[in-house]
Amino acid sequence: MRIDILTLFPEMFAGPFAESIVARAVEQEIVQIELHNLRDWGEGKRRNVDDAPFGGGAGMVMQPEPFFRAVESIPDHEQARTILLTPQGRLLTQQIVDELATAPHLILLCGHYEGVDERVREHLADDEISIGDYVLSGGEPAAIVLVDALVRRLPGALGSETSLDEESHTGGLLEYPQYTRPAEFRGWHVPDILLSGHHKEVAGWRRRQSLLRTAQRRPDLLRQALQDGDAVSEEDRRWLEEELETNLQDQPPS
Ligand code: ADE
Repeated sequence: MRIDILTLFPEMFAGPFAESIVARAVEQEIVQIELHNLRDWGEGKRRNVDDAPFGGGAGMVMQPEPFFRAVESIPDHEQARTILLTPQGRLLTQQIVDELATAPHLILLCGHYEGVDERVREHLADDEISIGDYVLSGGEPAAIVLVDALVRRLPGALGSETSLDEESHTGGLLEYPQYTRPAEFRGWHVPDILLSGHHKEVAGWRRRQSLLRTAQRRPDLLRQALQDGDAVSEEDRRWLEEELETNLQDQPPS
């Protein structure tokens, strides 16, 4: 996969892309990441990239020209999927990450200041993504989040492919609790089942923990998983209904 990132602050990416999974994937040529400084495409001697908003108001708006010229300088940009990072975009989910991870070429547009000229949104971007309902000072941290989430889904990027299938949000549920040595730490014990060596029972316990955890913390995700036929089995559903009923009965009346 190739990812081109257009930004006024390319150095913001240096640290996050120099470590861990992303750095290894770049080294192994699983992903090629190209940073483009929008300032290089700014207008005039001062390489201006922003101006006051028409109609008045506070702050500066990023002009369309540097975005268009920078995109047009990228080889095969016509075939790429161009995504604007903005708090007005669709909310990023694992499903969107997995869908985008199949694209051979992405171009990420990072806005800054008060915003980006609407014509970038209308005539350059194919898609708009938000990483959450809060406002960042620019699209750069959002692009870093998106690249990280994407790269770990690319074949070969993680050491062990199996760890992908069981993590939170894959399959629509949160992950079960994990423990490692020591089996007892400051008087807190690891659940006996995990030390038992019974793989089938461990798998069952983990599945039930996943269901329970999702029900307690993210009922919205559980509702969605129950609607998506294959995410939760009939056996899962029955167990969870019983468990939640018992738990409710156990609670003292309020
Ligand atoms: N730019 C500013 N805030 C953002 C957000 N929440 N997601 C994506 N891009 C942004």
